[in-house]
Amino acid sequence: MLAYLNGQFLPRSTATISVEDRGFVFGDGVYEVWRVVNGRLFESERHLERLEFGLRELRIALAERLSLPTIESIAERLLRESALTTGEATFYVEITRGAAPRAHQFPAAGTPPTVYATVNRLNPPEELRARGASAITMPDIRWLRCDIKTIQLLPNVFAKQAAAERGAVDALMIRDGVVTEGSHANVVGVLDGVIRTHPTNHLILPGITRAIVLDLARGLGVPVSEKPIAERDIPRLEEVFLVGTTTDVMPIVRVDDRPVGDGTPGPITTRLVKEFRAYLDASCAPAHSTS
Ligand code: PDD
Repeated sequence: MLAYLNGQFLPRSTATISVEDRGFVFGDGVYEVWRVVNGRLFESERHLERLEFGLRELRIALAERLSLPTIESIAERLLRESALTTGEATFYVEITRGAAPRAHQFPAAGTPPTVYATVNRLNPPEELRARGASAITMPDIRWLRCDIKTIQLLPNVFAKQAAAERGAVDALMIRDGVVTEGSHANVVGVLDGVIRTHPTNHLILPGITRAIVLDLARGLGVPVSEKPIAERDIPRLEEVFLVGTTTDVMPIVRVDDRPVGDGTPGPITTRLVKEFRAYLDASCAPAHSTS
């Protein structure tokens, strides 16, 4: 696989950063994951906007603004030279505050950020999606700026690991008695026929897939309420699903070893799985795509 590092394209296996990189030392940086279908980036502008929001919030200044054409040309070359122009893939971008002697305060002004990008094959788990996956619940122990897509992901790693150790696909994180999100996807439920999900604020990542799926649901006439799901209401949920760039719409049919509804993917979830896939394919179709 090819990588892009600070302006250079090189084999990922030979790409190296300094041991003084603040991403390595402090987790001081942001990242973004784009979905790619047949070599075309999905929802480019939204991902770039969120990346720029993160850079602003962390006060990481790039010498030159990362424009959409720049991002897309980097992705295009990485995908082409990594033979990922057909099928499903991801495009990953990470930007840290750069390398400097270890000190908690920001390094000297003008310290160049580290800019890294690469691509990977994605194999969406369609079989699991058809039968539905299971999830666990666990406390959300993260900081209070979860709206920034930072690379400091230890709580997310532990949530995913705990889920994996229990044969589940992810953990539904709980903070102050309500469901916030999963380790790398947003959580959506159906309660009394109404779609419920945590509102976008500092406690969750404002998911791009979440935004699209809520719009698709509204388009289908399904009522949507961006109000958090109370932990005590989990047993009453008729349907649950996860939404994210590497997740798409993933039905959750068991939570903490208890069936959701009748233990199979529900009607609204099943409909949104199809609608989202159609939207993804249409957005990445040659004529439609911006890239
Ligand atoms: N994660 N919540 C969290 C904590 C996430 O890390 C992600 C994405 C999402 C979904 O956002 P989106 O629909 O914009 O991808 C929600 C990426 C895929 C990752 O870390 O791999």
